[in-house]
Amino acid sequence: MKVHKHEAIIVGAGGAGLMAALYASKAGADVAVVSKLYPTRSHTGAAQGGIGAALGNLDEDQPIYHTYDTVKGGDYLTDQAAAKILAENAVDAVIELEHMGLPFDRTSEKRISQRRFGGHTRNFGEELVRRACHAADRTGHMILQTLYQQCIKNEVHFFDEFQVVDMIVVDGAVAGVIAIELGTGEFHIFHGKASFFASGGWGRCWSVTSNAHALTGDGAAIALRRGVPLEDMEFFQFHPTGIYRMGILITEGVRGEGGVLINSVGERFMERYAPSAKDLASRDVVSRAIYLETREGRSIKNRGYVHLDIRPGTVNRYFAEEGRDRNDFIDDATVERKLPDILDFCRTYLGVDPVKEPMPVQPTAHYAMGGIPTNVDAEVVIDAAGTVMPGLYAAGETACVSVHGANRLGTNSLVDLVVFGRRGGMSMAEFVKQADWKALPANPEGEIRAEFDRIRNATGKSRSGELRAKMQETMMENIGVFRTQETMQRGIDDLAELRERFYTDIQIDDKAHVFNTDLMEAWELGALLDLADVTARTAIEREESRGAHSREDFKERDDENWLAHSLISHDGVLADPTYTVSFDKPVDLSLWEEEIAQGLPEDKQKFRPKARVY
Ligand code: FUM
Repeated sequence: MKVHKHEAIIVGAGGAGLMAALYASKAGADVAVVSKLYPTRSHTGAAQGGIGAALGNLDEDQPIYHTYDTVKGGDYLTDQAAAKILAENAVDAVIELEHMGLPFDRTSEKRISQRRFGGHTRNFGEELVRRACHAADRTGHMILQTLYQQCIKNEVHFFDEFQVVDMIVVDGAVAGVIAIELGTGEFHIFHGKASFFASGGWGRCWSVTSNAHALTGDGAAIALRRGVPLEDMEFFQFHPTGIYRMGILITEGVRGEGGVLINSVGERFMERYAPSAKDLASRDVVSRAIYLETREGRSIKNRGYVHLDIRPGTVNRYFAEEGRDRNDFIDDATVERKLPDILDFCRTYLGVDPVKEPMPVQPTAHYAMGGIPTNVDAEVVIDAAGTVMPGLYAAGETACVSVHGANRLGTNSLVDLVVFGRRGGMSMAEFVKQADWKALPANPEGEIRAEFDRIRNATGKSRSGELRAKMQETMMENIGVFRTQETMQRGIDDLAELRERFYTDIQIDDKAHVFNTDLMEAWELGALLDLADVTARTAIEREESRGAHSREDFKERDDENWLAHSLISHDGVLADPTYTVSFDKPVDLSLWEEEIAQGLPEDKQKFRPKARVY
């Protein structure tokens, strides 16, 4: 068994992992990044439209407005002190990325260019603000390239195409992780003083998703199985504009540049659902509106999709109606320059040219608001009181800090990963300076090796691809944009049946060791089933509607009973786990509490939970 010893082990090479690696290495730690993909193929590269920061380059803006939008957008489940850190740190994080060489688009004054995004406003909701700093529609991709170069410069060790499959826990602390080298099929132990999960989300639980094939939630599932409860798992965001049936993301930046959503009767329907923010209302609101249009027979050809129209003729007509400055008007060249990737996707995958025709779009499973609970220094916490699990860190989509509450604002995922990746990298570097090495237990890979042997040698009749497709269908149908007790129970029952088949009736065709994707995908299905299950089980318990969790049998938000984070834990028995769900973790309302302490009357309290109006 090959054992690698590094003080800090980072799992995942997306933006959060690279930022943590960079900062931990700058602080002198010996850092290894272990990733199942080549770093520059990580899913951060799929974040298209921008990274939010109150630079105020085009409109007056302040971090406190960004904080407010983040709290309100999260339907008040957002932890307020964390949101403040996010918004304040966003400004210098973006400037730092620029100084590292990230090629942001420019304004005519050569400042970083910014565009509108849903839910981002000036002066506490007064009007939409240009806050998303962008590099065309490839912002995440540019962040990855920039951070990877910096990590190489800082001599971070990379283990590419090593898939982490388990975590080593010794006396309640984490002593490293176990990975499979995909090219050989061999197990490797990564022995560390600290381990940092930055392993991304699990959109692959749903059939229509913007998430890449690799987004199977490995890190969150491993943590869950090793005793870490997951937080707020019932909140999973559907991005309103995925390419019809394929789910590939069409950036919100399209609407930020003036694109509009149109139903089958040619109506810009968001005017009815969100009279002020319209197409740039927050994502939960827009996704629900598309479903309601479909339900009422106004989707295109009655097929469940609507049109997203960025044709300059259409956009300029609406700009003129709104009395917008003529400098805002767009032409074909603007669309080509600002949105090259989405034009490319539509031309390649659909044969649709968005400069000439509208794009067919539907909501697509996009982002996990919940995940591995952490404090604002990315230390993993394992209970409602915030008890830290020594040696374990997490940031980015796999983590829940919780800055996104019940619904993330567009652009805040990139902010989250650079801000909390950086804070986590620094705090991990401090930790490894003073921590002792924990001795590894005997045979640390024994349990996970047995699970892989079970999958490899099983002689059942079910293929993992078939079970995966069934799981994705039931999640889409029953635990999607709208939910009821009945649909969620159906989802839970379907998942139980799929789990039973996965543990008693599976078979894989490829028994080899080299790049065995059949084997790895079967193991990933186990992780996805765990995450689908905890999503459904927390969702069915939360008897209210809030953000992305929209129940038709409990239509209102209920702050009296449900203004709390959920935690769900798992007893570690893979084939038949017992789950425990609690709603005891309080939401941090410190900004609102400060307003009360200042004696502000109720109608002046910005951070007080109140109905969201768009
Ligand atoms: O629409 C987008 O460009 C996606 C960005 C995000 O999820 O933050």
